[in-house]
Amino acid sequence: MKSFETKDMSTGQVHNYLQHAIAPRPIALVSTIDKAGNVNLSPFSFFNLFSANPPVCVFSPSRRVRDNTTKHTLENIQEVAECVINIVDHNIVYKVNQASAEYPKGVNEFYESGLTELASIHIKPPRVAESPVQLECIIKQVIPLGDGPGAGNLILAEVKTIHFRDDLLDDSGQPIQKNFDLVARLGGDWYTRVTPESLFALPKPINEPLTQ
Ligand SMILES: Cc1cc2nc3c(=O)[nH]c(=O)nc-3n(C[C@H](O)[C@H](O)[C@H](O)COP(=O)(O)O)c2cc1C
Repeated sequence: MKSFETKDMSTGQVHNYLQHAIAPRPIALVSTIDKAGNVNLSPFSFFNLFSANPPVCVFSPSRRVRDNTTKHTLENIQEVAECVINIVDHNIVYKVNQASAEYPKGVNEFYESGLTELASIHIKPPRVAESPVQLECIIKQVIPLGDGPGAGNLILAEVKTIHFRDDLLDDSGQPIQKNFDLVARLGGDWYTRVTPESLFALPKPINEPLTQ
């Protein structure tokens, strides 16, 4: 084994090593709006589901390592505490990557990436029409993890409305996993795609005491 103390590493090296190891990570394509009505759209792979009751997702726009500035997504949420988490499938991943470019504040990445705005039902930020699952969320809390370059900001987003594309649910309302065609981020420029061939089912163990 090669072992490393994070206190002796650069932020870039810590980021790179952990991103390769803690993978694959799902991608939240987050739409937000500022108080003047400017829409923003950016992807975040520091993202997951952490509670079902209440239903809470967390994602983290970090401070830019380059100049320690904060991302527009965080700034918008501090003005209007709402967001849509749009789930990313293989069909939109190239456009999602385009939306991650560092555009000046006020630029709407829907237009830059070629994705389509769809009005939300309950909140101001629009959904991404091409996304297979769209989650309308109210922000519960923002937790800064530091004030230096690379510091994360945990955004606790409570899911209020879940929109599923029709073909993702069977007649009884059960999600059909193989139809989602999800992608996820790994280290560096690597991504992975959840194809039907890559899926396997693992039933939960039967809850019986272990025999010696
Ligand atoms: C797939 C993908 C995942 C990303 N995940 C994150 C992330 O979790 N946290 C982060 O700060 N930046 C992440 N980025 C970079 C941001 O999307 C990028 O900095 C973006 O310009 C931020 O936009 P904003 O300033 O408009 O919020 C990711 C980029 C891509 C392509």
